[in-house]
Amino acid sequence: MSDISNPLDDPTSDPFELAADAAADIARLTGVDRHDIALTLGSGWGKAADLIGETTATIPATEVTGFSKPALAGHVGSLRSILTPTGRRVLVIGARTHYYEGHGVRRVVHSVRTAAATGARTMVLTNGAGGIKAGWKPGQPVLISDHINLTGDSPLEGATFIDLTDLYSVRLRDLARRIDPTLDEGVYCQFRGPQYETPAEVRMAKTIGGSIVGMSTALEAIAARQAGMEILGFSLITNMAAGIQTTPLSHHEVIEAGREAEPVISALLARVIGEL
Ligand code: HPA
Repeated sequence: MSDISNPLDDPTSDPFELAADAAADIARLTGVDRHDIALTLGSGWGKAADLIGETTATIPATEVTGFSKPALAGHVGSLRSILTPTGRRVLVIGARTHYYEGHGVRRVVHSVRTAAATGARTMVLTNGAGGIKAGWKPGQPVLISDHINLTGDSPLEGATFIDLTDLYSVRLRDLARRIDPTLDEGVYCQFRGPQYETPAEVRMAKTIGGSIVGMSTALEAIAARQAGMEILGFSLITNMAAGIQTTPLSHHEVIEAGREAEPVISALLARVIGEL
């Protein structure tokens, strides 16, 4: 399963040095020395990149140290450098490596560490996810207020004790709500995947305080906090979680819900980025 050509898989490698190498690749390939904000685009959020500002460079992620090939159609494997109207540089990561791909957590968080190494102080993480909370509807964006990491894994190596209080910045959530006061928020539970949850797992997630279920984001947020970044998390509710919706879940349904919601949520995200 492992792609031996990826230097992150060498246990003697230093993931932070490789992130610095990746940031140097990005600077060379985009011609932009430093970025201010990084944005990871999940299902349904892709159009935001077009609305944020002027794309000054698009590069295939495979040209950048440590990036893996995308596992799925619909997960675009590219990095874009965007210049906003206010002169800020945004690194858009359209090349997420998911934990369920089985390549290890170093590869999952490499994009976040690379973003930090490019200079980005703000990390915006987006995803498509299942909704648990009563009243939520597919197509609705929600803010992530906190997470429960159910992967049993961590991007932190060794005795690295990191505080995760207010992991998802209160300041940035307030800023997002000033732009859209109807935004609700919830606790994101990261499951390993790639299977969707069972109804019993969704009931468990609800019982322990979760309101969103998905397969990304929590591990990335931990790495972003370790790197000292301020974090904003958004989920697009693409479906109600298993057992809450009575029909079976399908990847097709998730992609379709993302496609339908994309114009509205992308415009919202672009406005939020404009205010960061
Ligand atoms: N569960 C986990 N991941 C998801 C879901 C879900 O219901 N929908 C979209 N991604």
